Amino acid sequence: MSDIKKIKEEFLNKLSDKLDLSEINEIKSNLFGKNGLISSQFKMIGSVPDNEKKKFASDLNNVKDELQDLINSKIDELQNIEINKKLEKEKIDVTLPERNFIRGKIHPVSQTIDEISSIFSEIGFSVEEGPDVENEYNNFTALNTPDNHPARDMHDTFYLDEKKETLLRTHTSPVQIRTMMKDKPPFKIIAPGRTYRSDSDQTHSPMFHQVEGLHIDKDINMGHLKGCLNYFIKEFFEVEKIKMRFRPSHFPFTEPSAEVDIGYEIKDGKIKIGEGDQWLEILGCGMVHPNVLKNVKVDPTKFQGYAFGIGIDRLAMLKYGINDLRAFFDCDYRWLNHFGFDPLDVPTNYRGLSR
Ligand code: PHE
Repeated sequence: MSDIKKIKEEFLNKLSDKLDLSEINEIKSNLFGKNGLISSQFKMIGSVPDNEKKKFASDLNNVKDELQDLINSKIDELQNIEINKKLEKEKIDVTLPERNFIRGKIHPVSQTIDEISSIFSEIGFSVEEGPDVENEYNNFTALNTPDNHPARDMHDTFYLDEKKETLLRTHTSPVQIRTMMKDKPPFKIIAPGRTYRSDSDQTHSPMFHQVEGLHIDKDINMGHLKGCLNYFIKEFFEVEKIKMRFRPSHFPFTEPSAEVDIGYEIKDGKIKIGEGDQWLEILGCGMVHPNVLKNVKVDPTKFQGYAFGIGIDRLAMLKYGINDLRAFFDCDYRWLNHFGFDPLDVPTNYRGLSR
């Protein structure tokens, strides 16, 4: 048997086995590689006697084609199997139900802060911010609250060091100090933010929110304060008329000082603001004490004005009918889903986005 025939038979036999891709590639290079069996046969053509050359060359070409075709088709076949296996794994089942789509909600406190800010900004107040971690001076001393003043105990302060120099601010009033120290009068600002006192029950949480207001200019009096608060409460609760009462009170940083109650009643289990004979305290206020102005280098003989501090969480509870303050900060997803605001469904008196 000629060498060519032998090669053909040997390799047809080998290729009839079940082979993987690397084994077939090995056979391919054994045959057609640089020193492969078929390649070597081609090199021998020159030494074949002339009368046999034609047949030798044609036989060799036939065997070469046959083996090459067989090998290529086997390689194709194996590659297809591999691709199909991959596709099988990556198959997408378009009949599966879609995943739950969860849209976040805006927390009622954030919503309320936005509403408050937009109402005050319409009457010329700008928004200031201050840090939650304050120094003792801005929180108490600069606000005319000397070391031994009982108001310091009243506030149940969270101190952050033994010397009691750093603390979690007990109210937003230190933002009055920060604002007046960095600028010159007039001032007309609000400062919403977190405040802290060691206190916890159904209507008190150790962390709560206030919005400070400060208006200092020439000739500002208590009438301006009343007018401003009256306007705010009506806008916030979306009512035409409100009942508001100023009760004399005491804060070291205002003189005179007052606490403000608004009138309400409960009708059919719902709270109605501006009617009825129940009163709810919502803020403290007064005319800024001359000592406070002196502390921030504002001349009290030329400038005066009012300040107020409103409890934001209380306002939110009233407006949105939420009766336990602690739920605000429990991070209960179901609660938030119920009381939270859809970011795309803007309430009627929310001007933040539309104006
Ligand atoms: N800071 C006071 C409080 O937290 C409220 C207040 C602010 C009173 C501004 C008067 C003026 O109770």
